[in-house]
Amino acid sequence: MENELIQILPAGSNRSERQLQPLAPAHEILFNDAATKQPFFKGKTFYIETFGCQMNVHDSEKVAGTLLAKGYRPVENYEDADLVLYNTCSIREKAAQKVFSRLGAFKKGARNRQRIIGVLGCVAQQEGERFFDRAPQVQLVCGSASYSRISELIDRLEAGEKRVTGLSLDTDECFETEITRRDNPFRAYITIIEGCDKACTYCVVPMTRGPERSRPSDKVLAEARRLVDAGYTEIQLLGQTVNSYRDPSLARLAFPELLLRIAEIPGLKRLRFTTSHPHDFTSEIVRAIENSPVLCNHIHLPLQCGSNRMLARMRRTYTREEYLEKISCIRSAKRAMSISTDIIVGFCGETEEDFEQTLSLIDAVGYDQVFSFKYSPRPNTDAGRMEDSVPEEEKGRRLITLQERQRQIQLSRNQELIGQEFEVLVEGFQSKLGQAIGRTTSNRIINFAGEAGWIGQYMNVRVTAAGPNSLVGVRAESG
Ligand code: SAH
Ligand code: SF4
Ligand code: F3S
Repeated sequence: MENELIQILPAGSNRSERQLQPLAPAHEILFNDAATKQPFFKGKTFYIETFGCQMNVHDSEKVAGTLLAKGYRPVENYEDADLVLYNTCSIREKAAQKVFSRLGAFKKGARNRQRIIGVLGCVAQQEGERFFDRAPQVQLVCGSASYSRISELIDRLEAGEKRVTGLSLDTDECFETEITRRDNPFRAYITIIEGCDKACTYCVVPMTRGPERSRPSDKVLAEARRLVDAGYTEIQLLGQTVNSYRDPSLARLAFPELLLRIAEIPGLKRLRFTTSHPHDFTSEIVRAIENSPVLCNHIHLPLQCGSNRMLARMRRTYTREEYLEKISCIRSAKRAMSISTDIIVGFCGETEEDFEQTLSLIDAVGYDQVFSFKYSPRPNTDAGRMEDSVPEEEKGRRLITLQERQRQIQLSRNQELIGQEFEVLVEGFQSKLGQAIGRTTSNRIINFAGEAGWIGQYMNVRVTAAGPNSLVGVRAESG
Protein backbone atom coordinates (compact mmCIF):
# COMPACT_ATOMS: atom_id res chain seq x y z
CA MET A 1 0.00 0.00 0.00
CA GLU A 2 1.19 3.46 -0.79
CA ASN A 3 0.28 4.83 2.59
CA GLU A 4 1.11 8.41 2.20
CA LEU A 5 2.41 10.54 4.98
CA ILE A 6 0.32 9.66 7.92
CA GLN A 7 2.93 10.20 10.55
CA ILE A 8 6.14 11.98 11.33
CA LEU A 9 7.96 9.69 8.99
CA PRO A 10 11.68 9.60 8.71
CA ALA A 11 13.01 9.69 5.21
CA GLY A 12 14.57 6.72 3.59
CA SER A 13 11.50 5.28 2.01
CA ASN A 14 9.98 6.69 -1.14
CA ARG A 15 6.72 6.89 0.70
CA SER A 16 8.05 9.71 2.82
CA GLU A 17 9.57 11.77 0.07
CA ARG A 18 7.63 14.40 -1.72
CA GLN A 19 8.61 16.68 -4.45
CA LEU A 20 6.43 19.73 -4.53
CA GLN A 21 4.54 20.03 -7.75
CA PRO A 22 4.50 23.23 -9.75
CA LEU A 23 1.85 25.71 -8.94
CA ALA A 24 -1.42 24.89 -10.63
CA PRO A 25 -4.91 24.81 -9.16
CA ALA A 26 -6.03 27.68 -6.99
CA HIS A 27 -6.25 25.56 -3.85
CA GLU A 28 -2.50 25.25 -3.84
CA ILE A 29 -1.92 28.84 -2.91
CA LEU A 30 -3.41 30.00 0.29
CA PHE A 31 -2.86 33.54 1.35
CA ASN A 32 -2.67 33.83 5.06
CA ASP A 33 -3.94 37.36 5.14
CA ALA A 34 -5.71 39.28 2.38
CA ALA A 35 -7.34 36.92 -0.08
CA THR A 36 -7.06 39.57 -2.76
CA LYS A 37 -3.28 39.41 -3.09
CA GLN A 38 -1.82 37.72 -6.12
CA PRO A 39 1.77 36.63 -6.49
CA PHE A 40 3.73 38.83 -8.81
CA PHE A 41 6.34 36.83 -10.68
CA LYS A 42 9.56 38.69 -11.37
CA GLY A 43 10.90 36.04 -13.70
CA LYS A 44 13.09 34.13 -11.23
CA THR A 45 12.36 30.46 -10.74
CA PHE A 46 12.76 27.99 -7.88
CA TYR A 47 12.76 24.24 -7.39
CA ILE A 48 12.38 22.61 -4.00
CA GLU A 49 12.70 18.94 -3.17
CA THR A 50 11.77 17.59 0.22
CA PHE A 51 13.01 14.59 2.18
CA GLY A 52 11.80 13.45 5.57
CA CYS A 53 8.71 13.83 7.67
CA GLN A 54 5.51 15.81 7.23
CA MET A 55 7.01 18.62 9.25
CA ASN A 56 9.59 19.01 6.50
CA VAL A 57 6.89 18.70 3.84
CA HIS A 58 4.94 21.49 5.48
CA ASP A 59 8.05 23.63 6.05
CA SER A 60 8.70 23.35 2.30
CA GLU A 61 5.15 24.50 1.62
CA LYS A 62 5.87 27.56 3.73
CA VAL A 63 9.28 28.19 2.17
CA ALA A 64 7.64 27.90 -1.27
CA GLY A 65 5.05 30.44 -0.10
CA THR A 66 7.81 32.79 1.06
CA LEU A 67 9.45 32.49 -2.36
CA LEU A 68 6.17 33.16 -4.15
CA ALA A 69 5.78 36.29 -2.05
CA LYS A 70 9.26 37.33 -3.24
CA GLY A 71 8.18 36.97 -6.86
CA TYR A 72 9.79 33.60 -7.57
CA ARG A 73 7.91 31.10 -9.74
CA PRO A 74 8.06 27.32 -9.11
CA VAL A 75 9.41 24.95 -11.80
CA GLU A 76 9.22 21.18 -12.02
CA ASN A 77 12.80 20.53 -13.01
CA TYR A 78 15.86 21.65 -11.08
CA GLU A 79 17.66 22.37 -14.35
CA ASP A 80 15.22 25.20 -15.08
CA ALA A 81 15.58 26.83 -11.68
CA ASP A 82 17.50 29.93 -10.58
CA LEU A 83 17.20 28.77 -6.99
CA VAL A 84 17.44 25.06 -6.10
CA LEU A 85 16.59 24.04 -2.56
CA TYR A 86 16.84 20.65 -0.87
CA ASN A 87 14.97 20.28 2.40
CA THR A 88 16.86 17.47 4.09
CA CYS A 89 16.33 14.75 6.68
CA SER A 90 18.94 13.33 9.01
CA ILE A 91 16.95 10.76 10.96
CA ARG A 92 19.06 7.87 9.64
CA GLU A 93 22.31 7.68 7.76
CA LYS A 94 20.69 6.67 4.45
CA ALA A 95 18.28 9.60 4.59
CA ALA A 96 21.10 12.05 5.28
CA GLN A 97 23.13 10.76 2.32
CA LYS A 98 20.41 11.58 -0.21
CA VAL A 99 21.15 15.27 -0.41
CA PHE A 100 24.81 14.60 -1.23
CA SER A 101 23.84 12.41 -4.16
CA ARG A 102 21.49 15.15 -5.40
CA LEU A 103 24.25 17.73 -5.07
CA GLY A 104 26.48 15.59 -7.29
CA ALA A 105 24.53 16.98 -10.26
CA PHE A 106 26.02 20.43 -9.57
CA LYS A 107 29.69 19.50 -9.36
CA LYS A 108 32.14 21.86 -11.04
CA GLY A 109 31.91 21.55 -14.79
CA ALA A 110 28.37 20.22 -14.62
CA ARG A 111 27.12 23.72 -13.99
CA ASN A 112 25.66 25.26 -17.09
CA ARG A 113 23.86 28.21 -15.61
CA GLN A 114 24.15 30.69 -12.81
CA ARG A 115 22.04 29.47 -9.95
CA ILE A 116 21.83 29.51 -6.20
CA ILE A 117 21.90 26.13 -4.48
CA GLY A 118 20.70 25.90 -0.90
CA VAL A 119 20.22 23.19 1.69
CA LEU A 120 17.55 23.42 4.34
CA GLY A 121 16.34 21.20 7.14
CA CYS A 122 17.92 18.71 9.46
CA VAL A 123 21.17 17.86 7.61
CA ALA A 124 21.76 21.58 7.04
CA GLN A 125 21.41 22.26 10.76
CA GLN A 126 23.53 19.25 11.68
CA GLU A 127 26.40 19.99 9.29
CA GLY A 128 26.29 23.78 9.55
CA GLU A 129 29.28 25.58 7.98
CA ARG A 130 30.92 22.19 7.30
CA PHE A 131 28.41 21.79 4.50
CA PHE A 132 30.38 24.30 2.40
CA ASP A 133 33.50 22.11 2.65
CA ARG A 134 31.64 18.93 1.76
CA ALA A 135 29.73 20.57 -1.08
CA PRO A 136 31.34 23.81 -2.31
CA GLN A 137 28.54 24.30 -4.84
CA VAL A 138 26.18 25.14 -1.94
CA GLN A 139 25.71 28.81 -1.04
CA LEU A 140 22.91 28.69 1.48
CA VAL A 141 22.69 26.49 4.59
CA CYS A 142 19.65 27.05 6.78
CA GLY A 143 18.00 24.99 9.53
CA SER A 144 14.28 24.96 10.27
CA ALA A 145 14.56 27.21 13.34
CA SER A 146 15.87 30.01 11.07
CA TYR A 147 13.36 29.87 8.21
CA SER A 148 11.89 33.21 9.18
CA ARG A 149 15.22 34.62 7.88
CA ILE A 150 15.13 32.78 4.55
CA SER A 151 13.98 35.79 2.54
CA GLU A 152 16.76 37.97 3.94
CA LEU A 153 19.36 35.25 3.29
CA ILE A 154 18.33 34.99 -0.36
CA ASP A 155 18.43 38.79 -0.71
CA ARG A 156 22.01 38.75 0.54
CA LEU A 157 23.00 36.11 -2.03
CA GLU A 158 21.27 38.08 -4.77
CA ALA A 159 23.23 41.12 -3.65
CA GLY A 160 26.48 39.25 -4.25
CA GLU A 161 27.39 37.52 -0.98
CA LYS A 162 28.94 34.15 -1.67
CA ARG A 163 27.80 32.07 1.29
CA VAL A 164 25.08 32.63 3.87
CA THR A 165 23.85 30.61 6.84
CA GLY A 166 20.86 30.53 9.18
CA LEU A 167 21.85 28.11 11.91
CA SER A 168 20.69 29.57 15.19
CA LEU A 169 18.56 27.26 17.31
CA ASP A 170 18.17 29.93 19.92
CA THR A 171 14.71 31.04 18.93
CA ASP A 172 11.27 30.97 20.44
CA GLU A 173 9.71 31.87 17.09
CA CYS A 174 7.55 29.60 14.99
CA PHE A 175 7.78 29.95 11.24
CA GLU A 176 4.85 32.18 10.23
CA THR A 177 4.38 32.97 6.55
CA GLU A 178 2.23 35.29 4.53
CA ILE A 179 1.64 32.67 1.86
CA THR A 180 1.71 28.90 2.19
CA ARG A 181 1.78 26.91 -1.02
CA ARG A 182 -0.19 23.81 -0.10
CA ASP A 183 0.41 20.81 -2.31
CA ASN A 184 -2.06 18.37 -0.80
CA PRO A 185 -5.55 19.22 -2.03
CA PHE A 186 -7.30 17.29 0.75
CA ARG A 187 -5.29 17.64 3.89
CA ALA A 188 -3.91 20.91 5.15
CA TYR A 189 -1.09 20.78 7.66
CA ILE A 190 -0.68 23.11 10.60
CA THR A 191 2.47 22.88 12.71
CA ILE A 192 1.43 23.63 16.28
CA ILE A 193 4.69 22.78 18.02
CA GLU A 194 8.24 23.00 16.68
CA GLY A 195 11.38 21.26 18.00
CA CYS A 196 11.58 18.63 20.71
CA ASP A 197 12.52 18.70 24.41
CA LYS A 198 12.66 14.95 24.82
CA ALA A 199 16.09 13.44 24.67
CA CYS A 200 15.77 9.96 23.18
CA THR A 201 19.34 8.72 23.00
CA TYR A 202 19.17 7.60 19.35
CA CYS A 203 17.55 10.71 17.92
CA VAL A 204 18.94 13.77 16.12
CA VAL A 205 15.74 15.82 16.18
CA PRO A 206 16.39 17.84 19.38
CA MET A 207 19.71 18.92 17.81
CA THR A 208 18.38 19.55 14.32
CA ARG A 209 15.08 21.26 15.12
CA GLY A 210 15.90 22.86 18.43
CA PRO A 211 13.95 23.18 21.66
CA GLU A 212 10.19 22.80 21.87
CA ARG A 213 8.21 25.94 20.92
CA SER A 214 4.41 25.92 20.80
CA ARG A 215 2.44 28.24 18.59
CA PRO A 216 -0.19 30.46 20.28
CA SER A 217 -3.63 28.86 20.11
CA ASP A 218 -5.28 31.99 18.63
CA LYS A 219 -2.92 31.78 15.63
CA VAL A 220 -3.58 28.06 15.22
CA LEU A 221 -7.35 28.61 15.38
CA ALA A 222 -7.21 31.53 12.95
CA GLU A 223 -5.23 29.45 10.44
CA ALA A 224 -7.63 26.52 10.84
CA ARG A 225 -10.60 28.82 10.13
CA ARG A 226 -8.90 30.25 7.05
CA LEU A 227 -8.20 26.74 5.76
CA VAL A 228 -11.81 25.66 6.20
CA ASP A 229 -12.98 28.89 4.52
CA ALA A 230 -10.66 28.06 1.63
CA GLY A 231 -12.39 24.69 1.21
CA TYR A 232 -10.22 22.23 3.12
CA THR A 233 -12.28 19.64 4.95
CA GLU A 234 -9.35 17.88 6.64
CA ILE A 235 -6.67 19.36 8.86
CA GLN A 236 -3.66 17.60 10.34
CA LEU A 237 -1.86 19.16 13.28
CA LEU A 238 1.86 18.52 13.30
CA GLY A 239 4.59 18.32 15.89
CA GLN A 240 7.37 15.85 16.74
CA THR A 241 5.60 15.56 20.09
CA VAL A 242 2.30 17.14 19.11
CA ASN A 243 0.60 16.26 22.40
CA SER A 244 3.27 18.06 24.44
CA TYR A 245 1.67 21.27 23.14
CA ARG A 246 1.67 24.09 25.71
CA ASP A 247 -0.25 27.19 24.66
CA PRO A 248 1.99 30.23 25.16
CA SER A 249 -0.98 32.62 24.81
CA LEU A 250 -3.16 33.83 27.68
CA ALA A 251 -5.90 31.41 26.61
CA ARG A 252 -3.65 28.57 27.92
CA LEU A 253 -5.62 25.95 25.98
CA ALA A 254 -4.59 22.42 26.87
CA PHE A 255 -3.98 20.15 23.87
CA PRO A 256 -7.36 18.32 24.11
CA GLU A 257 -9.14 21.70 24.39
CA LEU A 258 -7.33 22.94 21.31
CA LEU A 259 -8.46 19.81 19.47
CA LEU A 260 -12.08 20.41 20.44
CA ARG A 261 -11.95 24.11 19.56
CA ILE A 262 -10.64 23.34 16.07
CA ALA A 263 -13.12 20.48 15.65
CA GLU A 264 -15.98 22.96 16.28
CA ILE A 265 -15.17 24.99 13.16
CA PRO A 266 -18.22 24.60 10.91
CA GLY A 267 -17.33 22.83 7.67
CA LEU A 268 -14.37 20.86 9.03
CA LYS A 269 -14.94 17.13 8.54
CA ARG A 270 -11.69 15.57 9.78
CA LEU A 271 -9.04 16.59 12.26
CA ARG A 272 -5.89 14.49 12.70
CA PHE A 273 -2.74 15.03 14.76
CA THR A 274 0.69 13.45 14.78
CA THR A 275 3.02 12.41 16.42
CA SER A 276 1.91 11.72 19.99
CA HIS A 277 4.56 10.88 22.57
CA PRO A 278 3.36 8.13 24.94
CA HIS A 279 4.66 9.96 28.02
CA ASP A 280 2.35 12.93 27.38
CA PHE A 281 -0.59 10.91 26.09
CA THR A 282 -3.55 11.42 28.43
CA SER A 283 -7.06 10.04 28.80
CA GLU A 284 -8.36 13.59 28.06
CA ILE A 285 -7.18 13.15 24.47
CA VAL A 286 -9.21 9.96 24.20
CA ARG A 287 -12.24 11.72 25.76
CA ALA A 288 -11.90 14.56 23.22
CA ILE A 289 -11.95 12.06 20.35
CA GLU A 290 -14.97 10.32 21.88
CA ASN A 291 -16.79 13.63 22.12
CA SER A 292 -16.21 14.92 18.62
CA PRO A 293 -16.87 12.94 15.46
CA VAL A 294 -14.59 15.37 13.60
CA LEU A 295 -11.59 14.05 15.53
CA CYS A 296 -10.34 11.05 13.56
CA ASN A 297 -10.34 7.72 15.35
CA HIS A 298 -6.69 7.00 14.68
CA ILE A 299 -3.77 7.44 17.05
CA HIS A 300 -0.13 7.15 16.12
CA LEU A 301 1.72 6.24 19.32
CA PRO A 302 5.37 5.32 18.71
CA LEU A 303 6.53 2.46 20.91
CA GLN A 304 10.13 2.03 19.61
CA CYS A 305 10.74 -1.16 21.61
CA GLY A 306 8.86 -3.58 23.84
CA SER A 307 11.66 -4.23 26.35
CA ASN A 308 11.98 -2.07 29.46
CA ARG A 309 15.74 -2.44 29.40
CA MET A 310 15.90 -1.01 25.86
CA LEU A 311 13.26 1.67 26.56
CA ALA A 312 15.39 2.92 29.44
CA ARG A 313 18.51 2.88 27.28
CA MET A 314 16.61 4.78 24.59
CA ARG A 315 15.45 7.22 27.31
CA ARG A 316 11.85 6.99 26.18
CA THR A 317 10.53 7.89 29.69
CA TYR A 318 7.88 5.14 29.84
CA THR A 319 7.85 1.43 30.53
CA ARG A 320 6.20 -1.35 28.58
CA GLU A 321 3.52 -1.53 31.31
CA GLU A 322 2.84 2.22 31.18
CA TYR A 323 2.61 2.10 27.41
CA LEU A 324 0.13 -0.79 27.62
CA GLU A 325 -1.98 1.23 30.07
CA LYS A 326 -2.27 4.01 27.49
CA ILE A 327 -3.31 1.42 24.93
CA SER A 328 -6.04 0.05 27.19
CA CYS A 329 -7.31 3.59 27.74
CA ILE A 330 -7.56 3.97 23.93
CA ARG A 331 -9.19 0.56 23.57
CA SER A 332 -11.79 1.43 26.23
CA ALA A 333 -13.04 4.41 24.19
CA LYS A 334 -16.66 4.44 23.04
CA ARG A 335 -15.54 4.66 19.42
CA ALA A 336 -13.19 2.00 18.00
CA MET A 337 -9.82 3.57 17.25
CA SER A 338 -7.04 2.39 15.02
CA ILE A 339 -3.54 2.52 16.46
CA SER A 340 -0.24 2.72 14.61
CA THR A 341 3.33 2.86 15.84
CA ASP A 342 7.05 3.18 15.07
CA ILE A 343 9.56 0.53 16.07
CA ILE A 344 13.36 0.48 15.96
CA VAL A 345 15.02 -2.94 15.79
CA GLY A 346 18.63 -3.70 16.66
CA PHE A 347 19.25 -0.80 19.03
CA CYS A 348 22.54 -0.87 20.97
CA GLY A 349 22.66 -3.98 23.13
CA GLU A 350 19.29 -5.37 21.97
CA THR A 351 19.27 -9.12 22.69
CA GLU A 352 17.03 -11.76 21.19
CA GLU A 353 14.98 -11.61 24.44
CA ASP A 354 14.54 -7.84 24.11
CA PHE A 355 13.39 -8.33 20.53
CA GLU A 356 10.96 -11.07 21.64
CA GLN A 357 9.46 -8.51 24.01
CA THR A 358 8.77 -6.23 21.06
CA LEU A 359 7.11 -9.09 19.20
CA SER A 360 4.95 -9.99 22.20
CA LEU A 361 3.95 -6.35 22.59
CA ILE A 362 2.82 -5.99 18.99
CA ASP A 363 0.78 -9.17 19.47
CA ALA A 364 -0.76 -7.73 22.62
CA VAL A 365 -1.66 -4.37 21.05
CA GLY A 366 -2.82 -5.54 17.62
CA TYR A 367 -1.63 -2.45 15.73
CA ASP A 368 -3.29 -1.41 12.50
CA GLN A 369 0.02 -0.26 11.10
CA VAL A 370 3.68 -0.41 12.11
CA PHE A 371 6.55 1.63 10.67
CA SER A 372 9.73 -0.24 11.49
CA PHE A 373 13.37 0.75 11.09
CA LYS A 374 16.82 -0.71 11.64
CA TYR A 375 18.71 1.31 14.21
CA SER A 376 21.11 3.75 12.56
CA PRO A 377 23.75 5.46 14.75
CA ARG A 378 23.60 9.25 14.44
CA PRO A 379 26.20 11.94 15.07
CA ASN A 380 26.09 13.92 18.34
CA THR A 381 23.57 11.59 19.95
CA ASP A 382 24.15 9.74 23.21
CA ALA A 383 23.54 6.39 21.50
CA GLY A 384 26.03 7.35 18.80
CA ARG A 385 28.69 6.95 21.52
CA MET A 386 27.39 3.51 22.56
CA GLU A 387 28.45 0.30 20.86
CA ASP A 388 26.25 -0.43 17.82
CA SER A 389 26.33 -4.09 18.88
CA VAL A 390 23.74 -5.75 16.65
CA PRO A 391 25.26 -6.75 13.28
CA GLU A 392 23.57 -5.33 10.18
CA GLU A 393 22.45 -8.80 9.05
CA GLU A 394 20.80 -9.49 12.37
CA LYS A 395 19.04 -6.11 12.26
CA GLY A 396 17.72 -7.10 8.84
CA ARG A 397 16.50 -10.46 10.14
CA ARG A 398 14.70 -8.84 13.06
CA LEU A 399 13.11 -6.27 10.76
CA ILE A 400 11.75 -8.96 8.43
CA THR A 401 10.53 -11.08 11.35
CA LEU A 402 8.72 -8.10 12.83
CA GLN A 403 7.20 -7.05 9.51
CA GLU A 404 5.97 -10.56 8.76
CA ARG A 405 4.36 -10.88 12.19
CA GLN A 406 2.69 -7.49 11.76
CA ARG A 407 1.45 -8.42 8.28
CA GLN A 408 -0.50 -11.33 9.80
CA ILE A 409 -1.92 -9.07 12.52
CA GLN A 410 -3.06 -6.49 9.95
CA LEU A 411 -4.58 -9.13 7.72
CA SER A 412 -6.71 -10.57 10.50
CA ARG A 413 -7.70 -7.11 11.80
CA ASN A 414 -8.71 -6.03 8.30
CA GLN A 415 -10.66 -9.24 7.64
CA GLU A 416 -12.83 -8.47 10.66
CA LEU A 417 -14.02 -5.37 8.81
CA ILE A 418 -15.60 -7.28 5.91
CA GLY A 419 -19.28 -6.40 5.68
CA GLN A 420 -18.90 -3.13 7.63
CA GLU A 421 -19.62 0.29 6.19
CA PHE A 422 -17.27 3.29 6.45
CA GLU A 423 -17.27 6.86 5.28
CA VAL A 424 -14.27 7.57 3.07
CA LEU A 425 -12.78 10.68 1.57
CA VAL A 426 -11.95 9.90 -2.06
CA GLU A 427 -8.32 10.93 -2.45
CA GLY A 428 -7.45 9.40 -5.79
CA PHE A 429 -8.57 7.40 -8.80
CA GLN A 430 -6.79 4.59 -10.66
CA SER A 431 -8.06 4.97 -14.18
CA LYS A 432 -6.63 1.62 -15.39
CA LEU A 433 -8.69 -0.24 -12.80
CA GLY A 434 -11.58 2.23 -12.69
CA GLN A 435 -11.09 2.35 -8.94
CA ALA A 436 -11.55 5.16 -6.50
CA ILE A 437 -9.12 5.30 -3.56
CA GLY A 438 -10.82 6.27 -0.34
CA ARG A 439 -9.47 6.85 3.15
CA THR A 440 -11.44 6.18 6.31
CA THR A 441 -11.17 8.33 9.42
CA SER A 442 -9.23 5.40 10.93
CA ASN A 443 -6.70 5.95 8.14
CA ARG A 444 -7.46 2.75 6.22
CA ILE A 445 -7.47 2.71 2.45
CA ILE A 446 -10.50 1.26 0.64
CA ASN A 447 -10.42 0.77 -3.13
CA PHE A 448 -13.79 0.62 -4.86
CA ALA A 449 -15.28 0.93 -8.35
CA GLY A 450 -15.82 4.61 -9.01
CA GLU A 451 -15.29 7.69 -11.11
CA ALA A 452 -12.49 10.22 -11.34
CA GLY A 453 -15.05 12.94 -10.61
CA TRP A 454 -15.53 11.58 -7.09
CA ILE A 455 -12.12 12.82 -5.96
CA GLY A 456 -12.53 15.12 -2.97
CA GLN A 457 -15.99 13.76 -2.06
CA TYR A 458 -17.01 11.90 1.07
CA MET A 459 -19.08 8.74 0.55
CA ASN A 460 -20.01 5.52 2.31
CA VAL A 461 -18.38 2.29 1.25
CA ARG A 462 -19.02 -1.30 2.34
CA VAL A 463 -15.96 -3.54 2.75
CA THR A 464 -16.09 -6.69 0.62
CA ALA A 465 -12.51 -8.00 0.83
CA ALA A 466 -9.40 -7.37 2.88
CA GLY A 467 -5.65 -7.60 2.46
CA PRO A 468 -2.96 -6.73 5.01
CA ASN A 469 -2.54 -3.19 3.73
CA SER A 470 -5.81 -2.18 2.19
CA LEU A 471 -9.45 -3.05 1.77
CA VAL A 472 -11.72 -3.49 -1.22
CA GLY A 473 -15.31 -2.29 -1.13
CA VAL A 474 -18.39 -1.15 -2.98
CA ARG A 475 -20.14 2.14 -2.70
CA ALA A 476 -22.96 1.72 -0.21
CA GLU A 477 -26.47 2.74 -1.24
CA SER A 478 -26.68 5.05 1.76
CA GLY A 479 -23.56 6.89 0.59
N1 SAH B 1 8.91 12.34 17.43
C1 SAH B 1 8.55 11.04 17.09
C2 SAH B 1 9.50 10.36 16.15
C3 SAH B 1 10.12 11.10 15.07
S1 SAH B 1 11.27 10.28 14.07
C4 SAH B 1 8.49 10.19 18.34
O1 SAH B 1 9.03 10.53 19.36
O2 SAH B 1 7.94 9.13 18.26
C5 SAH B 1 10.29 8.97 13.39
C6 SAH B 1 10.78 7.61 13.75
O3 SAH B 1 12.07 7.38 13.22
C7 SAH B 1 10.95 7.35 15.22
O4 SAH B 1 9.74 7.10 15.86
C8 SAH B 1 11.87 6.17 15.22
O5 SAH B 1 11.15 4.97 15.12
C9 SAH B 1 12.70 6.36 13.95
N2 SAH B 1 14.07 6.77 14.27
C10 SAH B 1 14.49 7.89 14.89
N3 SAH B 1 15.82 7.89 15.04
C11 SAH B 1 16.27 6.73 14.50
C12 SAH B 1 17.57 6.13 14.36
N4 SAH B 1 18.67 6.73 14.82
N5 SAH B 1 17.63 4.94 13.73
C13 SAH B 1 16.52 4.33 13.27
N6 SAH B 1 15.29 4.83 13.38
C14 SAH B 1 15.15 6.03 13.99
FE1 SF4 C 1 13.30 12.21 18.64
FE2 SF4 C 1 12.42 11.31 20.94
FE3 SF4 C 1 11.98 13.86 20.24
FE4 SF4 C 1 10.70 11.89 18.99
S1 SF4 C 1 10.51 12.43 21.15
S2 SF4 C 1 11.70 13.64 18.05
S3 SF4 C 1 12.23 10.26 18.94
S4 SF4 C 1 13.95 12.93 20.69
FE1 F3S D 1 13.94 13.87 9.35
FE2 F3S D 1 14.22 16.17 10.54
FE3 F3S D 1 11.81 15.13 10.17
S1 F3S D 1 15.52 14.43 10.80
S2 F3S D 1 12.20 12.95 10.25
S3 F3S D 1 13.18 15.78 8.60
S4 F3S D 1 12.49 16.31 11.90
